[in-house]
Amino acid sequence: MKRMQWNESLAVGIEQIDNQHKIWMEHFNSAAEAIAAKQSPSQISKTLGFLMDYTEMHFSTEEKYMTELGYAGLQDHKSRHNELRTTLTNLVKDFEDEGVTSKLADAIDSFLGNWLVQHINEVDKKFAAFAKKG
Ligand SMILES: [Fe+2]
Ligand SMILES: [Fe+2]
Repeated sequence: MKRMQWNESLAVGIEQIDNQHKIWMEHFNSAAEAIAAKQSPSQISKTLGFLMDYTEMHFSTEEKYMTELGYAGLQDHKSRHNELRTTLTNLVKDFEDEGVTSKLADAIDSFLGNWLVQHINEVDKKFAAFAKKG
């Protein structure tokens, strides 16, 4: 399993957002580790819950910030967040129904990690550049 590690190349330059991305990655790692280590369902469920809660808190922070600044890309950015909200909700539901499946392990190992890095680089950085200009 590959661990996610924040590094300077992921910095968007807004301290609060960068700090949240670091913590987001830790929650992601905890969930991935719990699954890889075949921890008990209740432990895995707990780490997934933390990941869900933190994701929601982080997305809400960004969306509130974009709304306050009247950012024109808000709707597009928000719809990307909504796609991940849906994906995560479905993954947790699948886990509750079926336990750890290879689909869940794969999603955690590759899809989610890639999504996060790509989103920060392509979507969050665009917004951060706008916010810093303002
Ligand atoms: Fe974002
Ligand atoms: Fe973000």
